[in-house]
Order: sequence, then structure tokens, then C-alpha cells
Amino acid sequence: MARILTGIQSTGKPHLGNLLGAIIPAIELSKDKQNESLFFIADLHSFSTIRDAVQLKENTHATAAAWLAFGFDTDKNLFYRQSDVTEVTELTWYLNCFTPYPMLANAHSFKDKTDKLSCVNSGLFTYPVLMAADILLYDAEIVPVGKDQMQHLEMTRDIAGAFNHKYPNSFVLPETEIDERVMIVPGTDGQKMSKSYNNYIDIFLSDKKLRKQIMGIKTDSIPMEEKKDADSCTVFKLYKLLATDKQSAALKAKYAAGNYGYGQAKQEFFDLICDKFSAERTEFNHLMENKEIIDVALEKGAKKARIIASAVLQRVRTNIGY
Ligand code: TRP
Repeated sequence: MARILTGIQSTGKPHLGNLLGAIIPAIELSKDKQNESLFFIADLHSFSTIRDAVQLKENTHATAAAWLAFGFDTDKNLFYRQSDVTEVTELTWYLNCFTPYPMLANAHSFKDKTDKLSCVNSGLFTYPVLMAADILLYDAEIVPVGKDQMQHLEMTRDIAGAFNHKYPNSFVLPETEIDERVMIVPGTDGQKMSKSYNNYIDIFLSDKKLRKQIMGIKTDSIPMEEKKDADSCTVFKLYKLLATDKQSAALKAKYAAGNYGYGQAKQEFFDLICDKFSAERTEFNHLMENKEIIDVALEKGAKKARIIASAVLQRVRTNIGY
């Protein structure tokens, strides 16, 4: 049984790119009987940039609702809010005292952020230490992350190694698992789908609004009658990510035959989303209208998480001499 742990940034309502690129594959991985998955919403990390109580809460709920709507099994696995297990902040302090200042000053993500933000707080600086605490507090064995998080994982291993050198058997060193699921989900303008490019598709919108987003996908201006190349069209690229091979082949043939417009392809893509995600869309909205269901699920997760966390923290405290 391997313990897999992942933190989820709660930047708002997950879009189609988040769902296809991260959430659905992670849920699939969690179904393996050999694994125990710990997924948490990294809302303490969010506080380094978000200063609005309503927004912070809303982001957590929307993120959690998407995971739950897509069937994450909270009985078999652990699903919790980082801020509910306050043990993590104590461990962060111990780890801070083992983290060389230059290591943090050299972090890519910190350098990127200092270039972009007008206010740089120490929370952003020590972000990787809190992340190390997230991982080490649960004796996590495998941490699947994207390439952008590799350096943070290396820091976690370095900090844990240095700590163990002084205080043996304090931490389990996590293995990094580079996420090879580099599924590129194009946005409505053909670039990578991203909240910051404002080119995303939000499948949890009402039919009318969702259809409008889909109708806004950029296409070229080849006239309706002419034959078209499906593979270079964003509508087709998106369709293909969701459709069966047979459905994709059928749509491709329509593009190639001519007398088939992009508006029709967009309608087919809209119908496919409605058809494929009907249950999840309903469940997401149900959860967002009944947020107490989400809170109960997260509280249940926090209770289970705290059992592991307090045992590990106790081990560390004893080793330090408290
Ligand atoms: N920093 C991660 C990200 O930006 C989120 C995260 C926080 C995380 N703590 C973690 C990921 C612990 C893995 C393990 O995506």
C-alpha cells in the first residue's frame, strides 16, 4: 500500500483543463486498491495571495465540489482542508529552522513571483517549507507533481534529509513522481487553457452560458461549403479529448467532406459535454447549493488526517526534546 499525497491549489472553480489534466486522472489513480490517496486543498498557501474571506471560502468549496462531483471516494481516501489540520504550521516552524536561507532565495517560483507581485511577503518566501510540512506530516511516500513543482519536492527531500541526519527516523523521504500526464487542453483561443488567459471552458455553467463559451472558440474563416482540416481546429482538438474514437472519426469525416460549418462542430462539442458530464454538472451545482455537504466531507477528512498528523508531530517533538 503506497501513500500518495497531493495538494491542490484552490484558485477558483476548476475548468475543463483542470478536470482533464489533473482531477480526473488523479481520481482514477486513487481507485487503485494498492494506494491510499491523501488530497488536500492548500488554502494556507492561498492566503499568501488571497485577502478576501468570501473568495477564499468560495474557492475552497468550488474546488472541493468538483472533486466530489467527479467521484473522489472520501471513505477510502483522505480529503481535507489544509487549514483544518493546524499541526502543519507547527511542523513548518521546525522545518524552517532546518532550511538554509539561500535555498529559499534560489527557488524559481519565488523569483518568478517577486518579479510579478508588488507586495512580496515572507509567506511567499517560505511557501516551499509549508509544502514540505504538508508532505512530511503524513509520512507520504509518493508525491505526484507537475514539472513546475519539482524543485519544491527536492527541497522537501533536502530538508527532511538534513533533519533526519540530526534527529534520526523523524521523516519518511517522499519519492517524486513526475506527472507524465501532460495532456494539453487548448483554451477557446487555441493557447493552453488557463484561468489567467481567460480562455477557459467552465463546464459547471448553465447550459446557456456554457453554450456561449463554446460558441466563442476561435476558428479560421474557411467558408462553410469547403473541406476543412479537423486536426488544426481547436473545436475538434477539444472534442477529441472527450469523445470515443468512433465519435472523433465521425466528426473528422464531416470536416473533411465539406458543407459542414464550425458552428455545427461547436454544437456537437456542446452536446457531448452535456451528455458526458450530465451527472457531474448536476452534482456540482447541488453541492454548491448545499455547501454543508462539502463541509461535512472535509471535516470527516480532517479528523482522519489529524490522527496521522498528530502521531508524526509527536514523534518529531520527542526527537527534538520537547
Ligand atoms: N504548490 C503546489 C502547487 O502549486 C500545491 C501544493 C501545496 C502541494 N502543498 C503541496 C503539492 C504538497 C504537493 C504536495 O500546485
